[in-house]
Amino acid sequence: MQPNTFWLQLKRKPTPLALVVGLLLGLLIGKTFPTSLLSTGGNNPIFVSRLSARKQITLPNIDQRRRVLDLLSTLSPHHTTECTRNSQPLYVQQVRDRYASLIGHKTPSESTWFSSWGFSDSQHVHNVPKKEHKYFFAINLYNSFDVIPDLFATLFRVSAILGYHNVYVSIYENGSTDQTKALLRIFDALTRSVGLRVTIRTSTRTRGAFNHRIEYLAEVRNQAFNPLHELRDSHNEYFDTIIFMNDILPCVDDLLELIWQSRRNNAGITCASDYMYHQELSTPVFYDNWVARDINGTALENAPFENVFHDPYSSERFQMHLPIQVQSCWNGVAVLDPAPFYTPPYIKFRMARLTEEECSASECSLICNDYWEAGYGRILMVPRVKLAYDKRVFDIIHPSRRNLTAIRGYVRLGGLPDNPRTDPQDRSWYGPHDRLFTPEESEEIDFVPGPSHVWCWGWDGAGDIDGPDVDPIWERMPDRSQYADSVKVKHHREMSEL
Ligand SMILES: *[C@@H]1O[C@H](CO)[C@@H](O)[C@H](O)[C@H]1NC(C)=O
Ligand SMILES: *[C@@H]1O[C@H](CO)[C@@H](O)[C@H](O)[C@H]1NC(C)=O
Ligand SMILES: *[C@@H]1O[C@H](CO)[C@@H](O)[C@H](O)[C@H]1NC(C)=O
Repeated sequence: MQPNTFWLQLKRKPTPLALVVGLLLGLLIGKTFPTSLLSTGGNNPIFVSRLSARKQITLPNIDQRRRVLDLLSTLSPHHTTECTRNSQPLYVQQVRDRYASLIGHKTPSESTWFSSWGFSDSQHVHNVPKKEHKYFFAINLYNSFDVIPDLFATLFRVSAILGYHNVYVSIYENGSTDQTKALLRIFDALTRSVGLRVTIRTSTRTRGAFNHRIEYLAEVRNQAFNPLHELRDSHNEYFDTIIFMNDILPCVDDLLELIWQSRRNNAGITCASDYMYHQELSTPVFYDNWVARDINGTALENAPFENVFHDPYSSERFQMHLPIQVQSCWNGVAVLDPAPFYTPPYIKFRMARLTEEECSASECSLICNDYWEAGYGRILMVPRVKLAYDKRVFDIIHPSRRNLTAIRGYVRLGGLPDNPRTDPQDRSWYGPHDRLFTPEESEEIDFVPGPSHVWCWGWDGAGDIDGPDVDPIWERMPDRSQYADSVKVKHHREMSEL
């Protein structure tokens, strides 16, 4: 990067949301943390011994935190540094109100400067969470040099809101051939300096050691979960929410919304929606249809938005950007209820049981099926959170907001000009990232039991086709996933009332 670009970025005015985040950085006071961990190899015994050696460390002050955030977010000029930059004021207000219940840090003892930032005193007194909600981020990386600076900048901001002491980040990197490892060490050190706990592990095992493609992919995902079990065994530390990410770049508010919806609905699995560019159609289309199934068990389509869902009610909700119950989805980021990891049936990622003639679906589809069977079938997809794997698609699905009044003297029917609540840009499918929330987006979903059959497109992996290679079938689901009990709340994770 050119030095002058770097300084330009540093000098840029922070976004309103970044300001909110900035002020939250200072709110962790007088806490001590175990040192974070940087280890290599699978089941590393060093992990446990280092973990128990809790060191007293002095936490950085607000200015120092701000500097770390600046460093993190200016090292790379990717879109996540931009996505909340010019958010309209009404959206910023909505975000502040909506996610106040997720704030997981301690209230400062003196609050003079705090209230001057727009949080009223009465509000933040009630923000003190009754019980701390702990978040476990599980991340798989492979040759992710370009993604890492943004990923950490986002994690840093999200953790500032959730409370650094409530967050644990586990990164599993499988044999990258670029400088991913070196870069990870730098960011590990930076995040460690604010008391965020990070474990980074690296594998040298390659796919050759496994018979089946899916078996290997499941193993890679499970490795990212190892610290979850280790922390339970060694420190009796339990987490309340897991956020599983691939090398995708969500904005801060994307992650917050997924977490919010997951907790609001006490959902087993909550996923985003992801988009890829379709060359023939010359438009972005829904991407992850290998995993995503609607509540009838029908696959979602790699199609423009109006044709993604076959189920009519789901399609209607999708086009209104409302959360939708689905049978299965993953879509780049998934928020999981960890309960079935901790308690029988001790779910983990797995390949299909081929001897029992189970269809050889993705490890992510199988984990959704297992959640259903374990009674955690509250699976939902959040269309508002639209993720892209590159900047080109991100820019198409999130065009910048235009001032319609200035452009063409636009005056809405029956209201004031410039009232963003009735801005057509908020209603169009590909709209600004700061799309305003509608009241329906806060309503709890009415979950129904699962479908009797699910469309499965197997991947045998025997040939060299890099994707599903078996004829698809309607696979019969276990009876338990069709009982009313499969969607009853088993583990309450909702936010405390403000
Ligand atoms: C690491 O995992 C990814 C999928 O997560 C896979 O595409 C890649 O081939 C793996 N790397 C090695 C060295 O096997
Ligand atoms: C949009 O443009 C109009 C006319 O130029 C201006 O009066 C108004 O303040 C602008 N609105 C916003 C939100 O910038
Ligand atoms: C619903 O699922 C059944 C199989 O269980 C399938 O035959 C039917 O076409 C599906 N309907 C829609 C609208 O996808």
